Amino acid sequence: MKNSTDTMLVTCAFPYANGDIHLGHLLEHIQADIWIRYYRMKGRSVIFICSDDAHGTAIMLQAKKMKINPERLIENVYQRHRSSFLKFSIFHDHYSSTHSKTNEKTCKKIFNILKRKDLIQEKVITQLYDVKLNIFLSDRFVRGTCPTCRAKRQYGDNCEICGAIYDATELLNPVSELSNSSPQIKSSKHLFFKLSYFSEFLKRWVNSGTVQASVANHLNRWLAMGLRSWNISRDKPYFGFLIPGYVDKFFYVWMDAPIGYISSFKELCNEDDKINFCNFWSRQSKHELYHFIGKDIVYFHSLFWPAILEGCDYRKPTKIFAHGYLKFNGSKLSKSKGTIISVDQWLSYFDSDSLRYYLASKLSDTIEDIEINVYDYAYKINSDIVNNIINLASRSASFLKKHFFNILSDCIIEKSIYKNFVDKSIEIDISFQERKFSLVVKAIRNLSDIANKYINTTKPWILIKQKSSRNYVHGICSLGINLFRILMIFLKPIMPNLVRKSELFLNTPLQWTQINKPLLNHKINDFSCLYERIKISYVDEFMRKI
Ligand code: MSP
Ligand code: ZN
Repeated sequence: MKNSTDTMLVTCAFPYANGDIHLGHLLEHIQADIWIRYYRMKGRSVIFICSDDAHGTAIMLQAKKMKINPERLIENVYQRHRSSFLKFSIFHDHYSSTHSKTNEKTCKKIFNILKRKDLIQEKVITQLYDVKLNIFLSDRFVRGTCPTCRAKRQYGDNCEICGAIYDATELLNPVSELSNSSPQIKSSKHLFFKLSYFSEFLKRWVNSGTVQASVANHLNRWLAMGLRSWNISRDKPYFGFLIPGYVDKFFYVWMDAPIGYISSFKELCNEDDKINFCNFWSRQSKHELYHFIGKDIVYFHSLFWPAILEGCDYRKPTKIFAHGYLKFNGSKLSKSKGTIISVDQWLSYFDSDSLRYYLASKLSDTIEDIEINVYDYAYKINSDIVNNIINLASRSASFLKKHFFNILSDCIIEKSIYKNFVDKSIEIDISFQERKFSLVVKAIRNLSDIANKYINTTKPWILIKQKSSRNYVHGICSLGINLFRILMIFLKPIMPNLVRKSELFLNTPLQWTQINKPLLNHKINDFSCLYERIKISYVDEFMRKI
């Protein structure tokens, strides 16, 4: 951890504005949100920003299909995205759109800097053109026969059968996915960012601990193959920003999207004059910048993005945290494959905290994929949260209410157990910081076992029958509540709603710095159900309907 007075700016990748937020997006936002909540509990100043990614051909075509303007489409989606995140307790300090005026200004400014520095090159290239619809076809919108192995219906960039990488114009018998017609080859002038100019810088940057080791391996392979200039322009019709100084040329969506990180932050600074924009983005910045992204967009974030920043003399990301895909029944949740589970689909059966806990139990700092199984999820919530953690509170609370007016004892009777819980915070701290949330969950689970075993072996329900053991029972149940309190402190970044209810029950806010200070002589509130068991019939129905 660096200087604790510096600000941490955390971002998640911008969801495309042509579909609902699904569990795959949530994996990333929940991972970031847990990390952020942890650091805020530790007193760090953290800013969380995001944005909708509003540009590109896919969004333009979808609006056309819906017979509305792209502006209308992205506005509707924007509202839905924002409400989806809120439903999962994910509160961004600022959530913008890449179609914002600020982003347009920032993109133009950055382009002009790069151009002035001779980092932009013009080239005439040939591309497939749909003559029926008057549109150049990007690789995703054209299929044809692989020039290498002759496999049919392959996309315009690479062959899924033999792995060959080619140019779309090399496909045999290409067909436009948009109109089913055969495209023509047409030439057009494009603008390229001279990425290869940054090869040496990127080699150093990628290998300086800014990305995970496995990600650095991939990047090093790409770097070894040599970097090619990157086409940052698109011809009309396109939904995006016009490139200054050119006619009918638009910025490619992957050019203006990462610049959106700067713009979204700038908008926040304009709203809140405590934050200084220039201090943050200057090369000498002491502040920290963290990007959470999926492994599919590593290339854009770890090569193009730092190169653009370097080209403009801006600061670079402190770290880029890539994660794997969320999979359901073995396949990646993806809009294009029609295999998504949306936020609302999930929430019509289950709640948000339980998904946060379940994903945390599987999250680590690697790019391994994560399989979600709803039966396993229900089992884990019922066993870890309901049977173990909540049960610890409910069984202790029932004695305290019945015999001790809800007032906790004035000392901790088993100091070693309490100390054991406090000591675990060191390990849990590190696991949170390193994004090894599965270890956090495992530690919490083990501690809750220890606490319940303590209650099981001391048997307060038998002791309470003897008058002479009353004080002992008071001590046992008060310790039960104090151990529950520590577990809730550890769970606070993961299950904010459950912890808020527990704070009401415990009649005190829960803070990391207070772990060492048990509640003594303290009045708690009546216990009321903090968490409902997940019914397996719901899981069955979810699986039938999904
Ligand atoms: N718009 C770009 C990002 C631009 S960032 C300047 C994009 N959008 S996306 O909607 O396709 O994905 C947004 C994020 O969600 C990405 O980090 C992506 O990896 C992540 N996920 C989308 N589907 C996912 C899963 N099924 N599993 C885990 N994360 C995945 O990419
Ligand atoms: Zn092939």
